[in-house]
Amino acid sequence: MNVLVTGGTGALGRHLVMQLRSAGHRARILSRNPRGHVDAVQGDLTTGAGLVKAVAGIDAIIHAASAASQPTKLRITDVVGTRRLLAMAREEGVKHLVYISIVGMEGIAYPYYKTKLAAEAVVKENIVPWSILRATQFHTLMETFLGGLSALPFVATVPFKWQFQPVDPREVAARLVEVVTHKAAGMLPDFGGPEVRDFKSVAESWLKARKSNKRLINLPLPFKFSRQVAEGHLLCPDHKDGKITFEQYLEVKYPE
Ligand SMILES: NC(=O)c1ccc[n+]([C@@H]2O[C@H](COP(=O)([O-])OP(=O)(O)OC[C@H]3O[C@@H](n4cnc5c(N)ncnc54)[C@H](OP(=O)(O)O)[C@@H]3O)[C@@H](O)[C@H]2O)c1
Repeated sequence: MNVLVTGGTGALGRHLVMQLRSAGHRARILSRNPRGHVDAVQGDLTTGAGLVKAVAGIDAIIHAASAASQPTKLRITDVVGTRRLLAMAREEGVKHLVYISIVGMEGIAYPYYKTKLAAEAVVKENIVPWSILRATQFHTLMETFLGGLSALPFVATVPFKWQFQPVDPREVAARLVEVVTHKAAGMLPDFGGPEVRDFKSVAESWLKARKSNKRLINLPLPFKFSRQVAEGHLLCPDHKDGKITFEQYLEVKYPE
């Protein structure tokens, strides 16, 4: 198949591209800065630049681009950009768009999740036949959070009670590659990591793996979002699909 991977340079997308190619498919990347990437089209979801070229001759799209780390560009990239991409894909006769989203976002007081829900709604308009897979937080995101929360010297301040079900992006990528090769299936069952973990234990494992002797301090945050994460709204304990634990991820990333 000829598959366009938006976000093909990202934490998830790079595995999508590798796995599609090793399964014998063609994976074209859409990127704002494609230098150094093979079979990549320069484009930008915020302006629509490059999208016509990106979708030309494509059978299916895995849409994994998102402006999660650029709050001012979030809506224009994720919602407006998704609509733009779908319009171009429809013109081109693309048969399937697979969108990657996040488990348990409904009612969560977090702007990023509101934007993702709005993007899901655009996909569900059926401009192109679609599938949506929702996954739990990636191992790489645990590290991003922990990097930010341990920026001060000597201490790591972490909301101990937050609950996550970290999943390996390689396993999410494998599921998406399977999905894209089938017919559009609408909303798919959630995809979660193998363990539900409180953030204290995630942080302890991370500090140990990095041989850090920072002191771990609880950071109770008085926000609705924080309470919701502690109550387990982002979990899907009935879908422990991933096999790779956070410890196993750390063992490979930080060998003895
Ligand atoms: N991280 C998680 O824990 C997690 C969990 C569940 C679901 N998800 C979803 O999975 C998807 C991928 O997440 P990730 O963590 O892999 O993201 P990431 O590493 O932050 O990568 C974001 C990607 O989006 C692309 N992008 C950003 N703005 C763009 C624009 N204006 N035009 C075109 N491309 C643009 C970037 O490409 P260039 O910089 O090359 O342009 C990059 O490849 C997201 O939709 C996210 O919501 C993530």
